[in-house]
Amino acid sequence: MPGEIQYDPARSIWALMTDRATYALGVTPEGFVRHLWWGGRIGSLADLPDPRVPAGRSSQEGGLAAAHEEYPVWGGLRLRETALQATRTDGTRELDARFVAATIAEQSGRPSLTVQLRDAATALVIELSYQLDGARDIITRGVRITNRGDLPVTLERALTAVLYLPRSTAPRTLTTLAGSWAAEAQIQRQPVVPGIIALDARHGLAGHASVPWCAISAREWHQATPPDVGEHGEVYFATLAWSGNWLLRCATTVDGDTSLALGLNDHDFAWTLAGGDTFDLPEVVLGFADDGFDGMRQRIQSHIRAHILPRVAVDAPLPPRPILYNSWEATYFAVDEPGQMRLAEHAAALGIELFVVDDGWFKGRSLDNAGLGDWTPDPAKFPRGLTPLIDHVHHLGMRFGLWVEPEMVNPDSDLYRAHADWVYHFPDRPRSESRNQLVLNLARDDVRDHLLRVLDDLLSRSAIDFIKWDMNRPFSEVGWPAHPELAREIWVRHARAVYSLLDALRARHPRVNFESCASGGGRADLGMLRRTDEVWASDNTRPDARLTIQEGWSFFLPARVVASWVTDAPGWMRRHEYPLAFRFHVAMLGTLGIGGNLLEWDEDEMAAARHWIARYRDLRPVIQDGRQYWLASWQHGWAAVQYLAEIDAQERIALFVFRRDNPFDFALPPVRLRGLDPAATYVVTGEGAPPTRYTGAWLMAHGIDVSLSDGPYASQLIELIRRS
Ligand code: GLA
Repeated sequence: MPGEIQYDPARSIWALMTDRATYALGVTPEGFVRHLWWGGRIGSLADLPDPRVPAGRSSQEGGLAAAHEEYPVWGGLRLRETALQATRTDGTRELDARFVAATIAEQSGRPSLTVQLRDAATALVIELSYQLDGARDIITRGVRITNRGDLPVTLERALTAVLYLPRSTAPRTLTTLAGSWAAEAQIQRQPVVPGIIALDARHGLAGHASVPWCAISAREWHQATPPDVGEHGEVYFATLAWSGNWLLRCATTVDGDTSLALGLNDHDFAWTLAGGDTFDLPEVVLGFADDGFDGMRQRIQSHIRAHILPRVAVDAPLPPRPILYNSWEATYFAVDEPGQMRLAEHAAALGIELFVVDDGWFKGRSLDNAGLGDWTPDPAKFPRGLTPLIDHVHHLGMRFGLWVEPEMVNPDSDLYRAHADWVYHFPDRPRSESRNQLVLNLARDDVRDHLLRVLDDLLSRSAIDFIKWDMNRPFSEVGWPAHPELAREIWVRHARAVYSLLDALRARHPRVNFESCASGGGRADLGMLRRTDEVWASDNTRPDARLTIQEGWSFFLPARVVASWVTDAPGWMRRHEYPLAFRFHVAMLGTLGIGGNLLEWDEDEMAAARHWIARYRDLRPVIQDGRQYWLASWQHGWAAVQYLAEIDAQERIALFVFRRDNPFDFALPPVRLRGLDPAATYVVTGEGAPPTRYTGAWLMAHGIDVSLSDGPYASQLIELIRRS
């Protein structure tokens, strides 16, 4: 169901109804727009309270303190979270936004509501938009601010949403993803107690340290037994579709009033709106699941597939993500034509579909200290240019991909020698280098135009099918000497410029796919996912670390966007041996790739790789677009992940089971599947073994016995097919 918006004109109430949830708001007699409900689907609009400002408990909590406004501006007695703060030229910093009008419409088949508010003194008009994804209980919220006055107004805080949960003093759990380079998306759970929990990014990109996503569940929190990965309970979740500085604040009062604020980070932020100017804030995608974390996963993952990821035409199905090979760990910067051709031949022999040349291919790049900015092939490594290699890769039946890091420049580059003023800097301050590189000032039109020309040229001259777009350092000295008045707008202008470059390149080269990378998974947000086809989830390809990382990402990223490689072991970051099957199984949980040095793989390894690649290709629609269930968390020493999809009228299941070790020689407990039809029969189609039949009821209630070999890092892939 697309969802529907119900309206009660007598009481000025709107209810956004999705299949299993409701989000409601209303206008008070004074014109304040109040939040009324978010949670399970209501039976009738009549159940909702009148939209009145509640009486304060004391003089310390009066006015609009607990009014739960849909878009609380900074002004009056609004004592809690506010979304918008603005200063007029006369120094007044007070806003008072009141309801003007609301419109119900439909945008691309999805019902939407727009609510207009206005602050009379500044003539700022605020348009709140709500777009429904009815089947998935998801709402996308947007905000557009327009200055309809004559005088400029400077925004100093601009969040997209302050969301309110039903008041409750029962313990709640906040789940977030924290991390650092090569350790992304580590699941964090903490009790929501009175006070504020704040997360943010303030260095120019969404970042490794935390992710603009969170979930709040109703479960009790015990440190010793973290809530299971489960299928029960109510989960509220929200994510900000933004790749620049962001903030997320979860605030709770002693009487159980919990709000969740998401938006642009107000740290070092200012944006001046001249008369007539408009400012669009990044969208917040929010959802409610009454069936636990798996329910949340499936809703947001399928929403991303249906409504976020780019496609060539609105209704076009998402094509399968190709199985890729990437040169980085095999050759690092030592890429050249003969070496890459040899690797490509080995990759093609395995069934690889996309061959990607990573860093090192461009002019002057033999280490990380030179070349960024000069996006032409290095004449020493590719004396004939890239075309012979690309042709070779294409003749081998694969697509060709290339690594770039367009937002950056090495001081040792032709670009920097010609345009040292093109980087963020302050005139009399040192320019801090990180990985020997500086950040280009993408707020400048000439820099953006230059990058578009260079990248467009690269894609026009060579038959490139895939770009890995990297970004390897945070911002510093965020200055623009020619335009000091715009300096605090850079944070937003830079992220928008990245979007506009990607949008322009996609429009001109619709067949080219893009991967978002920022030293691994430093920019894996919905803003990037609107214009990239996958993300490089982490530089850490050690398979046991990867399981933790991928479990974290699975809270919102669909498997098809989580690029995952099989690499050599022992190898970089991998002091241990890991069985090749284990490495493949972990990488098969997402979009499978290989990053090992195939020239050194022996015949057995090549044969095993051919086998796993063929199995992945067969299971690809189930894994990349199926429903995902985390049956057991790697945090407990073993993991089980189930994918379920109906392919050509047949229900298919792929079950991956992993075990760290088995020091006591215990059998694994039976793995209980989810989401099956209890009355149906399912057939296990193991390799070599005769098919075994079970009912869905047995597989869900008792589970399937999985025998894993002894020894560390055992794993198994089991397939089931529904027979009746
Ligand atoms: C970053 C990426 C890696 C690789 C290197 C190349 O670290 O995350 O995958 O592309 O850059 O320099």
